[in-house]
Amino acid sequence: MASTPNTDHLDQEKQHAARAAMRWVRDGMLVGLGTGSTAAHFITQLGEKVRAGELRIQGTATSLASENLARQVGIPLVEPRRGLRFDLTVDGADELDPQLNLIKGGGGALLREKIIATASDYMLVVADSSKAVAQLGKFPLPLEVVPFALPWVLDAVAALGGNPVVRMDRQDPSKQVLSDQKNQLVDCHFGQLNDVQKLASQLITIPGIVEHGLFLGIAKAALVVREDRVEVLRAGVEPQLASDFTELP
Ligand code: A5P
Repeated sequence: MASTPNTDHLDQEKQHAARAAMRWVRDGMLVGLGTGSTAAHFITQLGEKVRAGELRIQGTATSLASENLARQVGIPLVEPRRGLRFDLTVDGADELDPQLNLIKGGGGALLREKIIATASDYMLVVADSSKAVAQLGKFPLPLEVVPFALPWVLDAVAALGGNPVVRMDRQDPSKQVLSDQKNQLVDCHFGQLNDVQKLASQLITIPGIVEHGLFLGIAKAALVVREDRVEVLRAGVEPQLASDFTELP
């Protein structure tokens, strides 16, 4: 698909946010590698530093796509194992609110993304200017669902007012999209989310929902582009310029 000036501009913002995130990475860190176009910029830029010998880091990717990219750009990968903790995870988001609650999973990787973010001491979100919102909910909330459970999950989500839509392949609309775990993805249209905690606890009790895309209280900071500047957003703290920020992990 041909890019438009607006998508080009957003892509430049994504690159800009990813570049700013490089200050958060220190030599020797174990880094969680996110998924999506912004995280892909970060992985590519991190790979350049690794290949140039400027950084020795190891990573674990949140999707097969990011794993392939990390391999291509020369980032050494570690397999999941007991006791493994990440110093830092850098990942994108579909929406983030002022409390740094997130909607994630637009790229279908929400389960591995939440696993790696939760196993990290510091989750840093990288985002273009379209992602910061006053209240979550314009972006449909993704769910990862075990295929056998799909009909009942759709009933239960509809009963909660979520207007669930099974995600189909954009290129071939007759094909359902499957996650890296071979589960199905369902996008829920709740509208504005007034009580994200309540919704998260309702969703996770529905049998067959493996994970939902609400990341509540997980992100430590977000790098968001605003008027061509990258700002650091944290819950309950005034935004700061990323270049001036000193409380790095
Ligand atoms: C992947 O499953 C998502 O959570 C992405 O992190 C999110 O969709 C952001 O993607 P972009 O960086 O491509 O906007």
